[in-house]
Amino acid sequence: MSSYIAAIDQGTTSTRCMIFDHDGKIAAVAQMEHEQIFPKAGWVEHDAKEIWNNTRKVTAEALAQKDLKASDIAAVGITNQRETALVWDKTTGEPVYNAIVWQDTRTDDICDELGALGGGAERYRDKVGLPLATYFSGPKVRWILDNVDGAREKAEKGDLLFGNMDTWLVWNMTGGVEGGVHITDVTNASRTLLMDLSTLDWDESIAEDMKIPMSMLPEIRSSAEEYGKVRERGVLGGVPIAGILGDQQAATFGQVCFEPGTAKNTYGTGNFLLLNTGEEKVMSKNGLITTVCYKIGENKPIYALEGSIAVTGSLVQWLRDNLGLIKQAPEVEDLAKKVEDNGDVYVVPAFSGLFAPHWRSDARGVIVGLTRYANKNHIARAALEAVAFQSKEVVDAMNADSGVDLSELKVDGGMVGNDTPMQFQADLLGVPVIRPEITETTCLGAAYAAGLAVGFWKDEDELRKQWAEDKRWEPEMDSEQVTALMTKWDKAVKRTLDWVKD
Ligand code: G3P
Repeated sequence: MSSYIAAIDQGTTSTRCMIFDHDGKIAAVAQMEHEQIFPKAGWVEHDAKEIWNNTRKVTAEALAQKDLKASDIAAVGITNQRETALVWDKTTGEPVYNAIVWQDTRTDDICDELGALGGGAERYRDKVGLPLATYFSGPKVRWILDNVDGAREKAEKGDLLFGNMDTWLVWNMTGGVEGGVHITDVTNASRTLLMDLSTLDWDESIAEDMKIPMSMLPEIRSSAEEYGKVRERGVLGGVPIAGILGDQQAATFGQVCFEPGTAKNTYGTGNFLLLNTGEEKVMSKNGLITTVCYKIGENKPIYALEGSIAVTGSLVQWLRDNLGLIKQAPEVEDLAKKVEDNGDVYVVPAFSGLFAPHWRSDARGVIVGLTRYANKNHIARAALEAVAFQSKEVVDAMNADSGVDLSELKVDGGMVGNDTPMQFQADLLGVPVIRPEITETTCLGAAYAAGLAVGFWKDEDELRKQWAEDKRWEPEMDSEQVTALMTKWDKAVKRTLDWVKD
């Protein structure tokens, strides 16, 4: 009897494998970072072969930690950084270009060009739930076909495949050039700008606008079903791959946000707040996006409203790697705690433009309010506050869109171990911020999807019982102070706009 489920989380900065037992407890975990490639300002790439090699290594290592064999694993679930786009040759298995990462803004002109066909940034919103923005995959594929020698001809011959990182991993795990399965799930497909949210199928007219041959696109499947087995001679050989969810949808599932009106905010490289809206697709009027939350097998799809923020945790990495302000990421909180307030310093990390609720690819980051008084502690504090300010903007938009005010916020991700930003978050939002016992909700969600598909877990009720609260931060700040801070933040945000284009 197989007693475990494996989850592979192919994230923006690292790839992990986690093994969960039947109680949803972590039995083993292995993780490897991969290189962030920045060829030019605004460009971000990953080496897809490095990521595939890391995936095999972390999976083998996680199994070894517990001395497990493939036969101990009932199923594997995949979760991944969304939107990051890869094109590879199906005859050789070689990528034709590095993966273009979701944070990359090189497709700004392509997006403008598509918008100019009519409708501007809202051209496809009714069908796909998204604005035309550099964030999403479709324009990245178009860029590769336009800019890599010979790619368009090969694509038109049917030799090239497109996929997000879920598709790349599943194709390789199931055999690659020797019959790999070319699929994705509805949640990942809903981030491409190419999938119709109602039919859950590719929209040919949008693909035609973007000059992307339909033959490159993977088959769209549900988030929980058996897609195929890992090839026999691979790590996890013979284990069914039975769950795929984009990482933010996986975290929502791992937080057991199964009812309409439940929401979570993940504090990772960026922040992503998802509100489950049930079977209803709520179209945002306030700068959020509409996305598929999950679809379990033959069940109806469940949708979400999402507020995506490009830069939060990666701002702390930038303080470490680009400014050398700290040696280790957690030191940022030590610096921030040395001062009582931000000293009137605000950091707006519009490194990839601004995502929700502004959607301005042309914005660029600023630090404002500097005086001779300001020091590195204020900058560290302003960086942590920027995470909470951006989430407050998204929650305000969500309350306006849904007509109901959020009553509490479940949180997860790297930063939720830190009191300073979490208390500030509760203060700004005016509602409790709640951390679960298992904060590795992304891997857990992918494991849950795979486990449901193979009957390892019976139903959502069984999963609901596994969620337990670990800590909550209650709001303490008075509302005038919140308003004063938000007014300053809004002014700082205005300073980021129109830097690239006049
Ligand atoms: O949409 C981008 C998101 O999926 C990336 O998440 O956790 O890999 O930074 P993460």
